[in-house]
Amino acid sequence: MKLKPARRIDGQLSLPGDKSISHRAALIAALATGVSHLSNFSTSRDCASTLGCLRQLGVEIIHDGNSWIIKGCETFLASSAPLDCGNSGSTIRMLAGILASRDFKSELIGDESLRSRPMQRIIEPLEQMGAHIDSRDGKPPITIHGSRDLRPIRYQLPVASAQVKSCILFAGLGTKGRTEVIETTSTRDHTERLFNAFGVSVRTEIEESGKSVVSLEGPAKFTGGKISIPGDISSAAYFIAAAMLLPGSQLAIKGLSLNPTRAEFLSVLRSWGADITTTDIQTECDEPVGTVLVNSGVDGPLERDQKQRLDDSMIPLLIDELPLLAIVGTQISGGLEIRNARELRVKETDRLAATVQNLRAMGADVEEYDDGLAVSGPTRLRGALIDSYGDHRIAMAFAVAALIAEGASEITGEECVEISFPEFFQLLETVVER
Ligand code: S3P
Repeated sequence: MKLKPARRIDGQLSLPGDKSISHRAALIAALATGVSHLSNFSTSRDCASTLGCLRQLGVEIIHDGNSWIIKGCETFLASSAPLDCGNSGSTIRMLAGILASRDFKSELIGDESLRSRPMQRIIEPLEQMGAHIDSRDGKPPITIHGSRDLRPIRYQLPVASAQVKSCILFAGLGTKGRTEVIETTSTRDHTERLFNAFGVSVRTEIEESGKSVVSLEGPAKFTGGKISIPGDISSAAYFIAAAMLLPGSQLAIKGLSLNPTRAEFLSVLRSWGADITTTDIQTECDEPVGTVLVNSGVDGPLERDQKQRLDDSMIPLLIDELPLLAIVGTQISGGLEIRNARELRVKETDRLAATVQNLRAMGADVEEYDDGLAVSGPTRLRGALIDSYGDHRIAMAFAVAALIAEGASEITGEECVEISFPEFFQLLETVVER
């Protein structure tokens, strides 16, 4: 796909529901007593993978206009066919937590990208709880031999991962006793908020050592309900960055999730001089929701005195926005360094390598580290041939780079945006002025 540079961004948007919240809401609704109505559910292919797996497990799911109606299921049925998680790490890791407490065997498979992603991080705690899991060297396909007699554990996460935390909490629902997950660095907390919203109490306490302990008492059961899923702030990030970087831009995005464990990139962009405000804040599914307003007002590079560096403890809260922030970093005088971000190498693709490769193709001065990268700035990016590596976040981040570049760019494999945001290019055209 060809992408021409843009002059500015102007308009108002409302975005489809947050992907992380939608996955969790569907899984919770499937386990709940009663019927749940989930409106503004994510339109992503990843969330469709979660719904597809739930259907295979015997859960009744109906699409009704803008809502998904999910009938909670007392017991899931074993699926004779493998459960296809597609490209979705969230689906495989969270569903594994649920299936660990069912006394049948389930095989979870995925696409080529998912087959290369680490699963030992969920296998280890689930086996400590009493499930048995076969894998291909710690990678999918995985076969879960569940057990009705799972034991609660106290487990410190070896990697900062909300997916692993959530997997253990879902498994904890089927135990008798207190499951505790210890985090040394905070990660997104949608599972905790949604469990509470659907009637399962999850506590988060900070120990004297500064570690945070997230816990629940099993056995526990959800009560179905009606929720409207807030707009996806990670999808909004691309529009926000484009509006901030293109002089004369004005953008409003309504109904966005402003959960502090997800909205950290707004503070980072503000600290670099962006004019971003939030208004109309309300609460939906225990999550803060509001409007984000961006006024570029910036003519020329973002002036900072020295190279910017993201605080290590913030990395998990910025994890999906890091490729985009690296692109913004090329526009800061002094540039940007990102470290402690080795996790990017095991996302849908190696996002560090993909970001470095594409930025260099656009003429940026980039250094690659084992755990991060550094960009110099300000740099006028040049239009180039960009490889999405089949990764939705790389495709969308570099679509923004293409808008601020000199000359046209071409992105290959751009259809991968369907994984999280099928409407991305269409909505971009509604707010871009050339
Ligand atoms: C997610 C958590 C993050 C993120 C992913 C979605 C979630 O992964 O990168 O896109 O919904 O819990 P990790 O928690 O594994 O870092």
